[in-house]
Amino acid sequence: MVVGVCGGIAAYKVVEVVSRLKKLGAEVHVIMTESAQEFVGELTFRTMSQNPVATDMFGTPARWEVEHVSLAQKADLFLVAPATANTLAKMAYGIADNMLLTTYLATRAPVLIAPAMNKNMYTHPVTVENMKKLSDGGCNFVRAGEGFLACGDVGIGRMAEPAEIVDAAVNLIACEKDLAGKRVLVTAGATQEAIDPVRFITNHSSGKMGVAIARAAKLRGAEVVLVHGKSSLPAPYGVEAVCVGSAQEMCDAVLSRAPKCDIIVKAAAVADYAPESVSTQTIKKSDADLSIALKRNPDILESLGKNKLAGQVLVGFCMETQDLLANAQKKLEKKNCDLMVANSLTEPGAGFGCDTNTVTILKKNGEKLTPENMSKEALAHIILSEAVKCK
Ligand SMILES: Cc1cc2nc3c(=O)[nH]c(=O)nc-3n(C[C@H](O)[C@H](O)[C@H](O)COP(=O)(O)O)c2cc1C
Repeated sequence: MVVGVCGGIAAYKVVEVVSRLKKLGAEVHVIMTESAQEFVGELTFRTMSQNPVATDMFGTPARWEVEHVSLAQKADLFLVAPATANTLAKMAYGIADNMLLTTYLATRAPVLIAPAMNKNMYTHPVTVENMKKLSDGGCNFVRAGEGFLACGDVGIGRMAEPAEIVDAAVNLIACEKDLAGKRVLVTAGATQEAIDPVRFITNHSSGKMGVAIARAAKLRGAEVVLVHGKSSLPAPYGVEAVCVGSAQEMCDAVLSRAPKCDIIVKAAAVADYAPESVSTQTIKKSDADLSIALKRNPDILESLGKNKLAGQVLVGFCMETQDLLANAQKKLEKKNCDLMVANSLTEPGAGFGCDTNTVTILKKNGEKLTPENMSKEALAHIILSEAVKCK
């Protein structure tokens, strides 16, 4: 991976980007513009990348090779961060008067640009036009955010955070994009059924399995919507996240989006019942026992199965304490699913809150697949690969 660093105050944050990429196992080569070296020393990037830093077009490279061409060929991603207004303009017009710009022109690797500048520079029509030109030409952008800018202004132009830049880089180059052009809807986490303004009925679902599936689908190139219960898990980069509370809210969010989706994975733990009425005031305790009447919630999976479109793939999840596989098979058929993922509650390293899981995947044709206990991330890819085969 080649990282081109320009002369902006955010250059120091790119040290963390390089560090994170190295931790992920990437081979990183840094190019710095002359201005970039005013902000961060070459030694810092050399140490962090564990590679020589290219700064000078006409310097003597460590090996005999035309350095900008060899870096351009080596790159499986060319990241420019922070991208200054000056460098963006030069990139847009094919000016190649330094090592970074020459390498940009010579590479055929995907390009990711993280701009950073003062808000007036960022919103200047010329900069906007240059970014559009680069985007139309196939460059990818990780958008600048709003906030406190180093120049003292508050507004748009702040470079995206290092974690976000790394996520965007990984999204571009990780995995075969076998879900490109597909729209995937994933549900995750637990629903909450209000009893009164402070109390609710919920379950132990952490949402980790669903979030892992959403992330995997995004990495494989899909457009992903994640409808999730209230959880502290961050939505994966590039995924549209819709946060819901009750089963009814999840139902509305899912059914309104389902007709546009190619694959629907229902990994959320949805409450089957909700209090018949929600008290507008907190229920006061008394010495007497309390009963709460419950009503049946809508069955989202059943509705999805009944209205399944031709070519749409529906994946359900089930978790049982008894007769897991027999119940999973019944659910697969009754809900018109293509796959049913049977989650074990009793296996060690599986189920609620764990980072690993053990499941059996039941297919419509009667086949069963039981992958070994593995990370929810790895399992997510297996489930998606099976879903792709159903089409
Ligand atoms: C303190 C300071 C901070 C700067 N920060 C930025 C910045 O965040 N974004 C930007 O586009 N230019 C910034 N500039 C201006 C660039 O350094 C200048 O346009 C330079 O020519 C960019 O060169 P390069 O694109 O070759 O790296 C800053 C300049 C100074 C002195």
